[in-house]
Amino acid sequence: MLDKIKALVEEVKALSAASAEQAEALRIKYLSKKGAVSALFDEFKNVPAEKKREVGQRLNELKNLAQEKINALKDSFLGKEQNSKAVDVTLPGTSAAFGGRHPLSIVKDDIVEIFSHMGFTVAEGPEVEDDWHVFTALNFPLEHPARDMQDTFFINTNPDILLRTHTSSVQVRTMERQKPPIRAVFPGRVFRNEAISARAHCIFHQIEGLYIAKDVSFADLKQVLLTFAKEFFGADTQIRLRPSYFPFTEPSAEMDVSCSLCGGKGCSVCKGTGWLEILGCGMVDPAVLESNGIDSKEYTGFAFGMGVERIAMLKYQVKDIRLFFENDMRFLSQFKSAF
Ligand code: PHE
Repeated sequence: MLDKIKALVEEVKALSAASAEQAEALRIKYLSKKGAVSALFDEFKNVPAEKKREVGQRLNELKNLAQEKINALKDSFLGKEQNSKAVDVTLPGTSAAFGGRHPLSIVKDDIVEIFSHMGFTVAEGPEVEDDWHVFTALNFPLEHPARDMQDTFFINTNPDILLRTHTSSVQVRTMERQKPPIRAVFPGRVFRNEAISARAHCIFHQIEGLYIAKDVSFADLKQVLLTFAKEFFGADTQIRLRPSYFPFTEPSAEMDVSCSLCGGKGCSVCKGTGWLEILGCGMVDPAVLESNGIDSKEYTGFAFGMGVERIAMLKYQVKDIRLFFENDMRFLSQFKSAF
């Protein structure tokens, strides 16, 4: 056994390699589980007890020697390969990858900025709400279908705690806090118990607007929304208001903008009509003002609410709403913003 060790020591001392691959082959030959050194360790079991001490020592010396020698051989190549790469100062540097804002954030900020130029402040409210702020204070009749389990995600029933189905709840929270005049927009996330498809999601974003003061009229509403539409979609944009119904506004309307893609001629995006529906609005129902402690004889107001995804889809020609929630870099990296 000692002779074998001695022979291997000599062999190892004389090792040389012409490349990193050869050095690795030597490591396998001597030091891997089936290598020559390991084979001696296996034999060590049969060494008589009185010799174990000396043989063990020599064996360990051999192992250390082999490791050092082979590592040194490997290092000599590693150094060369690295050096030849590391010092090429003519190579172009690797540029850092910059992140960008999410398209929904870009659109939300653009919309909020337009309204802030018209004197609207910004406020937010909770996503988990009670029945009062989402429905009752907004004049929803008790049997209104929006209160139904099919539309609303309930967290608790009796008392009803739920995920807000619209940002109109922040109208109520603002009226509680602030005396008129009120002129504010409320961006936020809303939740509806809907089947997810290319056109609908159970989570989406809205921007709500509320203006309450003395002598606010429907003409004011129309002018504010026209200014917004022209700022956001372009100076040639026209608007159209169609009668509609919401429990908390009277009269109520839905607003269309002229299709910015075909200029109103009719295309696949506006389904040949030349118009795109973008928001709901109306004069705040006097019953809502009274529920929130505002004298409806003294004050009037208007409100509007729009879906951020819907507007982002129109602006960027996105055909599937689910793309906004999948965090796929191939989709997100297409949107760049100034900051
Ligand atoms: N809350 C309404 C919706 O979610 C939109 C709306 C807001 C309509 C304000 C009128 C006034 O559909």
